[in-house]
Amino acid sequence: MSAALIILAAGQGTRMQSDLPKVLHQIGHAPLFVHAMAAGATLAPARTVLVAGHGADAVRAAAMAHDPDITVVVQNEQLGTGHAAAQARDALAGFDGDAYVLFGDTPFISATTLQAMADARAHHDIVVLGFQAADPGRYGRLVMAGDTLRRIVEFKDASDEERAITFCNSGVLCCSADPLFDLIDGTRNDNAAGEYYLTDVVEAACARGLSATAIACSEAETMGVNTRADLAAAEAVFQDMRRAEALETGITLQAPDTVFFAFDTVIGRDAVIEPNVVFGPGVTVESGARIRAFSHLEGCHVSAGATVGPYARLRPGAEIGNDAHIGNFVEVKNAEIGEGAKINHLTYIGDADIGAGTNVGAGTITCNYDGVFKHRTVIGQHAFIGSNTMLVAPVNVGDRAMTGSGSVITRDVPPGDLAVARSRQDNKAGLAVRLMDKLRAAKARKE
Ligand code: UD1
Ligand code: CA
Repeated sequence: MSAALIILAAGQGTRMQSDLPKVLHQIGHAPLFVHAMAAGATLAPARTVLVAGHGADAVRAAAMAHDPDITVVVQNEQLGTGHAAAQARDALAGFDGDAYVLFGDTPFISATTLQAMADARAHHDIVVLGFQAADPGRYGRLVMAGDTLRRIVEFKDASDEERAITFCNSGVLCCSADPLFDLIDGTRNDNAAGEYYLTDVVEAACARGLSATAIACSEAETMGVNTRADLAAAEAVFQDMRRAEALETGITLQAPDTVFFAFDTVIGRDAVIEPNVVFGPGVTVESGARIRAFSHLEGCHVSAGATVGPYARLRPGAEIGNDAHIGNFVEVKNAEIGEGAKINHLTYIGDADIGAGTNVGAGTITCNYDGVFKHRTVIGQHAFIGSNTMLVAPVNVGDRAMTGSGSVITRDVPPGDLAVARSRQDNKAGLAVRLMDKLRAAKARKE
Protein backbone atom coordinates (compact mmCIF):
# COMPACT_ATOMS: atom_id res chain seq x y z
CA MET A 1 0.00 0.00 0.00
CA SER A 2 1.47 3.34 -0.97
CA ALA A 3 1.82 5.95 1.76
CA ALA A 4 1.49 9.70 2.10
CA LEU A 5 2.58 11.81 5.04
CA ILE A 6 0.60 14.66 6.53
CA ILE A 7 2.78 16.51 9.00
CA LEU A 8 0.94 18.93 11.25
CA ALA A 9 3.07 21.95 12.00
CA ALA A 10 0.80 24.96 12.18
CA GLY A 11 1.00 25.64 15.90
CA GLN A 12 2.91 28.62 17.20
CA GLY A 13 4.38 26.90 20.20
CA THR A 14 3.67 29.77 22.59
CA ARG A 15 5.50 28.08 25.41
CA MET A 16 8.76 28.15 23.47
CA GLN A 17 8.83 31.94 24.13
CA SER A 18 10.25 32.42 20.68
CA ASP A 19 9.87 34.50 17.53
CA LEU A 20 10.65 31.34 15.56
CA PRO A 21 7.80 28.93 14.73
CA LYS A 22 8.17 25.92 17.00
CA VAL A 23 8.93 23.37 14.29
CA LEU A 24 11.94 25.39 13.12
CA HIS A 25 13.72 24.92 16.43
CA GLN A 26 16.46 22.40 15.86
CA ILE A 27 17.63 19.08 17.20
CA GLY A 28 20.99 17.91 15.91
CA HIS A 29 21.05 20.96 13.60
CA ALA A 30 17.85 19.96 11.77
CA PRO A 31 14.42 21.52 12.35
CA LEU A 32 12.01 19.47 14.45
CA PHE A 33 9.73 18.72 11.50
CA VAL A 34 12.63 17.23 9.54
CA HIS A 35 12.96 14.54 12.20
CA ALA A 36 9.28 13.66 11.81
CA MET A 37 9.75 13.61 8.03
CA ALA A 38 12.78 11.36 8.31
CA ALA A 39 10.85 8.79 10.32
CA GLY A 40 8.04 8.98 7.77
CA ALA A 41 10.51 8.68 4.89
CA THR A 42 11.06 5.03 5.82
CA LEU A 43 7.52 4.38 4.52
CA ALA A 44 8.77 5.60 1.10
CA PRO A 45 5.87 8.07 0.87
CA ALA A 46 4.54 8.95 -2.56
CA ARG A 47 3.63 12.41 -1.27
CA THR A 48 4.51 14.47 1.77
CA VAL A 49 2.34 17.36 2.88
CA LEU A 50 3.42 19.76 5.58
CA VAL A 51 0.65 21.80 7.19
CA ALA A 52 2.15 25.14 8.18
CA GLY A 53 0.46 28.05 9.93
CA HIS A 54 2.44 30.30 12.25
CA GLY A 55 5.53 31.51 10.39
CA ALA A 56 4.37 29.64 7.28
CA ASP A 57 6.81 31.40 4.93
CA ALA A 58 9.80 30.48 7.03
CA VAL A 59 8.51 26.95 7.51
CA ARG A 60 7.94 26.58 3.76
CA ALA A 61 11.45 27.80 2.97
CA ALA A 62 13.00 25.36 5.44
CA ALA A 63 10.85 22.51 4.17
CA MET A 64 11.70 23.15 0.51
CA ALA A 65 15.38 23.38 1.37
CA HIS A 66 15.18 19.96 2.94
CA ASP A 67 12.97 18.30 0.32
CA PRO A 68 11.99 20.15 -2.87
CA ASP A 69 9.22 17.62 -3.54
CA ILE A 70 7.32 18.44 -0.38
CA THR A 71 3.95 20.19 -0.60
CA VAL A 72 3.46 22.89 2.01
CA VAL A 73 -0.14 23.93 2.68
CA VAL A 74 -1.20 26.70 5.02
CA GLN A 75 -3.75 26.46 7.78
CA ASN A 76 -4.55 30.11 8.37
CA GLU A 77 -6.45 29.61 11.60
CA GLN A 78 -5.58 26.84 14.01
CA LEU A 79 -8.99 25.28 14.50
CA GLY A 80 -7.78 21.89 15.67
CA THR A 81 -5.88 18.82 14.53
CA GLY A 82 -8.79 17.58 12.36
CA HIS A 83 -9.02 20.93 10.60
CA ALA A 84 -5.24 20.91 10.15
CA ALA A 85 -5.20 17.45 8.55
CA ALA A 86 -8.08 18.49 6.27
CA GLN A 87 -5.83 21.15 4.71
CA ALA A 88 -3.96 18.31 2.97
CA ARG A 89 -7.04 17.26 1.00
CA ASP A 90 -6.19 19.04 -2.28
CA ALA A 91 -2.56 18.04 -2.12
CA LEU A 92 -3.65 14.40 -1.85
CA ALA A 93 -6.25 14.56 -4.62
CA GLY A 94 -6.02 11.38 -6.66
CA PHE A 95 -3.92 9.60 -4.04
CA ASP A 96 -5.56 6.34 -3.00
CA GLY A 97 -3.07 4.91 -0.52
CA ASP A 98 -2.72 5.36 3.23
CA ALA A 99 -2.26 8.74 4.87
CA TYR A 100 -0.09 8.90 7.98
CA VAL A 101 -0.67 11.92 10.17
CA LEU A 102 2.41 12.90 12.14
CA PHE A 103 3.08 15.90 14.38
CA GLY A 104 5.93 18.19 13.38
CA ASP A 105 6.89 18.68 17.02
CA THR A 106 7.22 14.96 17.79
CA PRO A 107 10.63 13.91 16.47
CA PHE A 108 11.25 10.39 17.77
CA ILE A 109 8.61 8.11 16.26
CA SER A 110 10.67 5.19 14.96
CA ALA A 111 10.66 3.52 11.58
CA THR A 112 9.84 0.20 13.30
CA THR A 113 6.76 1.71 14.89
CA LEU A 114 5.50 3.14 11.62
CA GLN A 115 6.04 -0.24 9.98
CA ALA A 116 4.03 -1.90 12.77
CA MET A 117 1.22 0.56 12.00
CA ALA A 118 1.43 -0.32 8.33
CA ASP A 119 1.19 -4.02 9.24
CA ALA A 120 -1.86 -3.40 11.46
CA ARG A 121 -3.54 -1.53 8.59
CA ALA A 122 -3.91 -4.88 6.83
CA HIS A 123 -6.61 -5.75 9.36
CA HIS A 124 -8.13 -2.37 10.26
CA ASP A 125 -9.23 0.78 8.45
CA ILE A 126 -7.68 3.12 10.99
CA VAL A 127 -4.58 2.52 13.09
CA VAL A 128 -3.79 4.88 15.95
CA LEU A 129 -0.46 4.93 17.71
CA GLY A 130 -0.85 4.77 21.49
CA PHE A 131 1.40 4.37 24.48
CA GLN A 132 1.08 3.45 28.12
CA ALA A 133 1.62 6.75 29.89
CA ALA A 134 3.46 6.82 33.20
CA ASP A 135 1.53 10.01 33.89
CA PRO A 136 -1.44 10.22 31.49
CA GLY A 137 -1.91 13.91 32.33
CA ARG A 138 -3.81 15.73 29.59
CA TYR A 139 -3.30 13.23 26.77
CA GLY A 140 -6.24 11.92 24.80
CA ARG A 141 -7.41 8.53 26.12
CA LEU A 142 -7.84 5.47 23.90
CA VAL A 143 -11.10 3.67 24.66
CA MET A 144 -10.47 0.04 23.66
CA ALA A 145 -12.71 -3.03 23.49
CA GLY A 146 -10.37 -5.94 22.94
CA ASP A 147 -8.16 -4.87 20.08
CA THR A 148 -10.83 -2.58 18.69
CA LEU A 149 -10.42 1.13 19.28
CA ARG A 150 -13.92 2.48 19.92
CA ARG A 151 -13.07 6.14 20.28
CA ILE A 152 -10.52 8.65 21.49
CA VAL A 153 -11.59 11.05 24.16
CA GLU A 154 -9.67 14.21 24.92
CA PHE A 155 -8.80 14.77 28.57
CA LYS A 156 -10.92 17.91 28.72
CA ASP A 157 -13.97 16.02 27.53
CA ALA A 158 -13.39 12.78 29.42
CA SER A 159 -15.41 11.32 32.30
CA ASP A 160 -13.59 10.29 35.48
CA GLU A 161 -13.81 6.72 34.32
CA GLU A 162 -12.19 7.59 30.99
CA ARG A 163 -9.54 9.70 32.68
CA ALA A 164 -8.51 6.58 34.59
CA ILE A 165 -7.38 5.00 31.28
CA THR A 166 -3.60 5.02 30.93
CA PHE A 167 -3.43 3.97 27.25
CA CYS A 168 -2.99 7.36 25.58
CA ASN A 169 -3.00 8.85 22.10
CA SER A 170 0.39 9.78 20.64
CA GLY A 171 -1.33 11.76 17.89
CA VAL A 172 -0.01 9.57 15.06
CA LEU A 173 -2.76 8.03 12.98
CA CYS A 174 -2.93 6.03 9.77
CA CYS A 175 -6.02 5.80 7.61
CA SER A 176 -6.79 5.25 3.97
CA ALA A 177 -6.79 8.73 2.44
CA ASP A 178 -10.12 8.05 0.79
CA PRO A 179 -12.39 7.97 3.86
CA LEU A 180 -10.11 10.18 5.98
CA PHE A 181 -11.21 13.54 4.62
CA ASP A 182 -14.88 12.53 4.56
CA LEU A 183 -14.60 11.41 8.15
CA ILE A 184 -12.98 14.72 9.14
CA ASP A 185 -15.78 16.58 7.35
CA GLY A 186 -18.23 14.85 9.63
CA THR A 187 -16.55 16.07 12.82
CA ARG A 188 -17.85 19.01 14.88
CA ASN A 189 -16.23 21.41 17.26
CA ASP A 190 -18.83 21.27 20.02
CA ASN A 191 -16.32 20.05 22.58
CA ALA A 192 -14.48 21.46 25.56
CA ALA A 193 -11.75 23.00 23.38
CA GLY A 194 -14.05 24.26 20.63
CA GLU A 195 -11.77 22.55 18.10
CA TYR A 196 -12.11 20.10 15.24
CA TYR A 197 -10.42 17.04 16.68
CA LEU A 198 -8.68 14.62 14.34
CA THR A 199 -9.25 12.05 17.04
CA ASP A 200 -13.01 12.17 16.43
CA VAL A 201 -12.56 10.31 13.13
CA VAL A 202 -12.27 7.06 15.10
CA GLU A 203 -15.77 7.13 16.52
CA ALA A 204 -17.14 8.34 13.19
CA ALA A 205 -15.41 5.46 11.40
CA CYS A 206 -16.84 2.90 13.82
CA ALA A 207 -20.32 4.33 13.26
CA ARG A 208 -19.84 3.68 9.55
CA GLY A 209 -18.87 0.10 10.15
CA LEU A 210 -15.16 0.70 9.59
CA SER A 211 -12.74 -0.78 12.07
CA ALA A 212 -10.09 0.97 14.14
CA THR A 213 -7.32 -0.31 16.34
CA ALA A 214 -4.43 1.08 18.32
CA ILE A 215 -0.93 -0.28 18.60
CA ALA A 216 1.52 0.72 21.31
CA CYS A 217 5.00 2.20 21.16
CA SER A 218 7.27 3.22 24.02
CA GLU A 219 6.41 6.49 25.70
CA ALA A 220 9.87 7.81 24.85
CA GLU A 221 9.04 7.75 21.13
CA THR A 222 6.05 10.00 21.63
CA MET A 223 8.03 12.75 23.32
CA GLY A 224 6.85 16.12 22.05
CA VAL A 225 8.58 19.48 22.26
CA ASN A 226 6.58 22.30 23.84
CA THR A 227 9.15 24.26 25.85
CA ARG A 228 12.86 25.07 25.72
CA ALA A 229 13.33 22.53 28.47
CA ASP A 230 11.65 19.90 26.26
CA LEU A 231 13.93 20.97 23.39
CA ALA A 232 17.02 20.49 25.54
CA ALA A 233 15.72 17.12 26.74
CA ALA A 234 14.98 16.09 23.13
CA GLU A 235 18.49 17.13 22.06
CA ALA A 236 19.89 14.92 24.82
CA VAL A 237 17.74 12.00 23.67
CA PHE A 238 18.83 12.53 20.07
CA GLN A 239 22.51 12.65 21.02
CA ASP A 240 22.19 9.50 23.13
CA MET A 241 20.54 7.68 20.23
CA ARG A 242 23.24 8.77 17.81
CA ARG A 243 26.04 7.80 20.20
CA ALA A 244 24.55 4.35 20.72
CA GLU A 245 24.14 3.94 16.97
CA ALA A 246 27.74 5.01 16.37
CA LEU A 247 29.04 2.45 18.85
CA GLU A 248 26.87 -0.28 17.34
CA THR A 249 28.18 0.41 13.86
CA GLY A 250 31.82 0.02 14.83
CA ILE A 251 32.92 3.54 15.62
CA THR A 252 35.11 4.13 18.66
CA LEU A 253 33.91 6.95 20.89
CA GLN A 254 36.34 7.30 23.78
CA ALA A 255 33.93 9.42 25.80
CA PRO A 256 30.53 9.09 24.11
CA ASP A 257 28.78 11.62 26.33
CA THR A 258 31.10 14.39 25.13
CA VAL A 259 30.64 13.85 21.40
CA PHE A 260 27.85 15.77 19.65
CA PHE A 261 26.41 14.65 16.33
CA ALA A 262 24.32 16.41 13.73
CA PHE A 263 21.28 14.91 12.11
CA ASP A 264 23.23 13.97 8.97
CA THR A 265 26.66 13.02 10.36
CA VAL A 266 28.10 10.01 8.52
CA ILE A 267 31.03 8.17 10.06
CA GLY A 268 32.70 5.03 8.74
CA ARG A 269 33.53 1.88 10.63
CA ASP A 270 36.70 1.91 12.69
CA ALA A 271 36.90 5.67 12.82
CA VAL A 272 38.04 6.89 16.23
CA ILE A 273 36.41 9.93 17.78
CA GLU A 274 38.24 11.28 20.79
CA PRO A 275 36.53 13.25 23.60
CA ASN A 276 34.80 16.60 23.12
CA VAL A 277 34.26 16.57 19.39
CA VAL A 278 31.38 18.52 17.85
CA PHE A 279 29.90 17.65 14.45
CA GLY A 280 27.93 20.40 12.74
CA PRO A 281 25.79 19.61 9.70
CA GLY A 282 27.15 17.98 6.56
CA VAL A 283 30.10 15.97 7.85
CA THR A 284 31.39 12.69 6.45
CA VAL A 285 34.26 10.89 8.13
CA GLU A 286 35.57 7.81 6.39
CA SER A 287 36.65 4.52 7.87
CA GLY A 288 39.77 4.56 9.95
CA ALA A 289 40.04 8.33 10.24
CA ARG A 290 40.79 9.75 13.66
CA ILE A 291 39.20 12.91 15.01
CA ARG A 292 41.20 14.01 17.98
CA ALA A 293 39.93 15.81 21.07
CA PHE A 294 38.24 19.21 21.04
CA SER A 295 37.76 19.44 17.29
CA HIS A 296 34.83 21.14 15.58
CA LEU A 297 33.75 19.96 12.11
CA GLU A 298 31.01 21.12 9.76
CA GLY A 299 30.30 20.71 6.05
CA CYS A 300 33.47 18.73 5.47
CA HIS A 301 34.78 15.36 4.39
CA VAL A 302 37.60 13.51 6.12
CA SER A 303 39.07 10.63 4.13
CA ALA A 304 40.32 7.29 5.34
CA GLY A 305 43.40 7.32 7.52
CA ALA A 306 43.42 11.07 8.04
CA THR A 307 43.99 12.62 11.46
CA VAL A 308 42.26 15.81 12.53
CA GLY A 309 43.05 17.72 15.72
CA PRO A 310 43.35 17.99 18.63
CA TYR A 311 41.75 21.44 18.58
CA ALA A 312 41.15 21.60 14.83
CA ARG A 313 38.36 23.41 13.06
CA LEU A 314 37.07 22.15 9.73
CA ARG A 315 34.60 24.48 8.08
CA PRO A 316 32.35 24.02 5.03
CA GLY A 317 34.15 22.79 1.94
CA ALA A 318 37.12 21.29 3.76
CA GLU A 319 38.09 18.12 1.87
CA ILE A 320 40.74 16.23 3.77
CA GLY A 321 42.53 13.58 1.69
CA ASN A 322 43.63 10.11 2.67
CA ASP A 323 46.19 9.99 5.46
CA ALA A 324 46.47 13.78 5.67
CA HIS A 325 47.23 15.37 9.03
CA ILE A 326 45.43 18.44 10.28
CA GLY A 327 46.89 19.42 13.62
CA ASN A 328 46.21 21.68 16.56
CA PHE A 329 44.74 25.14 16.08
CA VAL A 330 44.43 24.63 12.35
CA GLU A 331 41.38 26.03 10.54
CA VAL A 332 40.49 24.74 7.07
CA LYS A 333 37.70 26.21 4.94
CA ASN A 334 36.73 25.53 1.31
CA ALA A 335 40.02 23.80 0.64
CA GLU A 336 41.18 20.50 -0.74
CA ILE A 337 44.00 18.91 1.19
CA GLY A 338 45.82 16.23 -0.82
CA GLU A 339 46.73 12.75 0.22
CA GLY A 340 49.29 12.64 3.00
CA ALA A 341 49.66 16.43 3.23
CA LYS A 342 50.56 17.76 6.67
CA ILE A 343 49.28 20.98 8.20
CA ASN A 344 50.10 20.45 11.80
CA HIS A 345 50.17 23.70 13.73
CA LEU A 346 48.47 27.11 14.07
CA THR A 347 47.42 27.63 10.48
CA TYR A 348 44.59 29.07 8.42
CA ILE A 349 43.94 27.44 5.05
CA GLY A 350 40.97 28.95 3.21
CA ASP A 351 40.03 28.79 -0.50
CA ALA A 352 43.02 26.65 -1.33
CA ASP A 353 44.28 23.45 -2.93
CA ILE A 354 47.16 21.77 -1.17
CA GLY A 355 48.81 19.00 -3.18
CA ALA A 356 49.59 15.49 -2.01
CA GLY A 357 52.53 15.15 0.34
CA THR A 358 52.95 18.88 0.87
CA ASN A 359 54.03 20.12 4.27
CA VAL A 360 52.65 23.40 5.56
CA GLY A 361 54.70 24.93 8.36
CA ALA A 362 53.41 26.39 11.62
CA GLY A 363 51.68 29.74 11.48
CA THR A 364 51.02 29.72 7.74
CA ILE A 365 48.11 31.79 6.52
CA THR A 366 46.39 31.87 3.17
CA CYS A 367 45.43 35.54 2.86
CA ASN A 368 42.31 34.75 0.86
CA TYR A 369 40.24 37.86 1.39
CA ASP A 370 41.00 41.33 0.07
CA GLY A 371 38.07 42.91 1.83
CA VAL A 372 35.73 42.40 -1.13
CA PHE A 373 36.70 39.25 -3.03
CA LYS A 374 37.93 35.81 -2.02
CA HIS A 375 40.94 34.43 -3.92
CA ARG A 376 42.44 30.98 -4.22
CA THR A 377 45.83 29.66 -3.21
CA VAL A 378 47.04 26.64 -5.18
CA ILE A 379 49.99 24.67 -3.87
CA GLY A 380 51.37 21.68 -5.78
CA GLN A 381 52.56 18.30 -4.58
CA HIS A 382 55.42 17.71 -2.17
CA ALA A 383 55.93 21.41 -1.64
CA PHE A 384 57.33 22.78 1.60
CA ILE A 385 55.79 25.93 3.01
CA GLY A 386 58.08 27.45 5.62
CA SER A 387 56.67 28.46 8.99
CA ASN A 388 54.81 31.73 9.14
CA THR A 389 54.43 32.08 5.40
CA MET A 390 51.74 34.52 4.28
CA LEU A 391 50.31 33.35 0.96
CA VAL A 392 48.64 36.40 -0.56
CA ALA A 393 46.03 34.97 -2.91
CA PRO A 394 45.55 34.56 -5.78
CA VAL A 395 48.88 32.79 -5.80
CA ASN A 396 50.34 29.45 -6.96
CA VAL A 397 53.21 27.49 -5.50
CA GLY A 398 54.47 24.73 -7.80
CA ASP A 399 55.30 21.09 -7.13
CA ARG A 400 58.31 20.56 -4.88
CA ALA A 401 58.74 24.31 -4.40
CA MET A 402 59.65 25.81 -1.01
CA THR A 403 59.00 29.09 0.74
CA GLY A 404 61.36 30.49 3.36
CA SER A 405 59.82 30.94 6.78
CA GLY A 406 58.39 34.36 7.42
CA SER A 407 57.90 34.99 3.71
CA VAL A 408 55.08 37.06 2.33
CA ILE A 409 54.40 35.37 -1.01
CA THR A 410 52.64 37.65 -3.47
CA ARG A 411 53.92 36.17 -6.76
CA ASP A 412 53.69 32.63 -8.11
CA VAL A 413 56.53 30.29 -7.16
CA PRO A 414 57.52 27.99 -10.06
CA PRO A 415 57.92 24.25 -9.44
CA GLY A 416 61.12 23.37 -7.67
CA ASP A 417 62.03 26.96 -6.74
CA LEU A 418 62.70 28.34 -3.28
CA ALA A 419 60.98 31.67 -2.67
CA VAL A 420 62.29 33.91 0.07
CA ALA A 421 60.32 37.09 0.56
CA ARG A 422 61.48 38.80 3.72
CA SER A 423 64.12 41.34 4.57
CA ARG A 424 67.70 40.10 4.79
CA GLN A 425 69.17 39.60 8.28
CA ASP A 426 71.79 42.12 9.46
CA ASN A 427 73.91 41.32 12.61
CA LYS A 428 75.35 44.38 14.36
CA ALA A 429 78.38 43.19 16.30
CA GLY A 430 78.04 43.67 20.11
CA LEU A 431 75.18 46.13 19.75
CA ALA A 432 72.77 44.25 22.03
CA VAL A 433 75.08 44.50 25.02
CA ARG A 434 75.99 48.16 24.37
CA LEU A 435 72.32 49.09 24.00
CA MET A 436 71.30 47.35 27.24
CA ASP A 437 74.14 48.96 29.20
CA LYS A 438 73.06 52.37 27.95
CA LEU A 439 69.40 51.83 28.88
CA ARG A 440 70.21 50.52 32.38
CA ALA A 441 72.47 53.52 33.00
CA ALA A 442 69.65 55.88 31.96
CA LYS A 443 67.28 54.15 34.41
CA ALA A 444 69.81 54.41 37.28
CA ARG A 445 70.15 58.18 36.73
CA LYS A 446 66.36 58.61 37.11
CA GLU A 447 66.15 56.69 40.42
C1 UD1 B 1 -3.23 15.98 20.59
C2 UD1 B 1 -4.34 14.91 20.55
C3 UD1 B 1 -4.31 14.12 21.85
C4 UD1 B 1 -2.93 13.50 22.03
C5 UD1 B 1 -1.85 14.57 21.98
C6 UD1 B 1 -0.49 13.95 21.97
C7 UD1 B 1 -6.19 15.85 19.25
C8 UD1 B 1 -7.52 16.46 19.31
N1 UD1 B 1 -5.61 15.55 20.42
O1 UD1 B 1 -3.57 16.87 21.63
O2 UD1 B 1 -5.28 13.08 21.81
O3 UD1 B 1 -2.88 12.79 23.26
O4 UD1 B 1 -1.97 15.36 20.79
O5 UD1 B 1 0.48 14.93 22.08
O6 UD1 B 1 -5.67 15.59 18.18
N2 UD1 B 1 -1.82 21.55 15.09
C9 UD1 B 1 -2.02 22.21 13.89
N3 UD1 B 1 -3.15 22.94 13.70
C10 UD1 B 1 -4.12 23.01 14.64
C11 UD1 B 1 -3.93 22.33 15.87
C12 UD1 B 1 -2.76 21.61 16.05
O7 UD1 B 1 -1.16 22.16 13.00
O8 UD1 B 1 -5.13 23.67 14.39
C13 UD1 B 1 -0.58 20.79 15.29
C14 UD1 B 1 0.28 21.39 16.37
O9 UD1 B 1 1.21 22.30 15.83
C15 UD1 B 1 0.95 20.16 16.96
C16 UD1 B 1 -0.04 19.05 16.72
O10 UD1 B 1 -0.92 19.49 15.72
O11 UD1 B 1 2.13 19.81 16.26
C17 UD1 B 1 -0.81 18.66 17.98
O12 UD1 B 1 -1.55 19.77 18.41
P1 UD1 B 1 -1.76 20.08 19.95
O13 UD1 B 1 -2.59 21.27 20.10
O14 UD1 B 1 -0.46 20.03 20.66
O15 UD1 B 1 -2.64 18.79 20.39
P2 UD1 B 1 -2.89 18.31 21.85
O16 UD1 B 1 -3.92 19.16 22.48
O17 UD1 B 1 -1.63 18.12 22.56
CA1 CA C 1 0.65 18.73 22.19
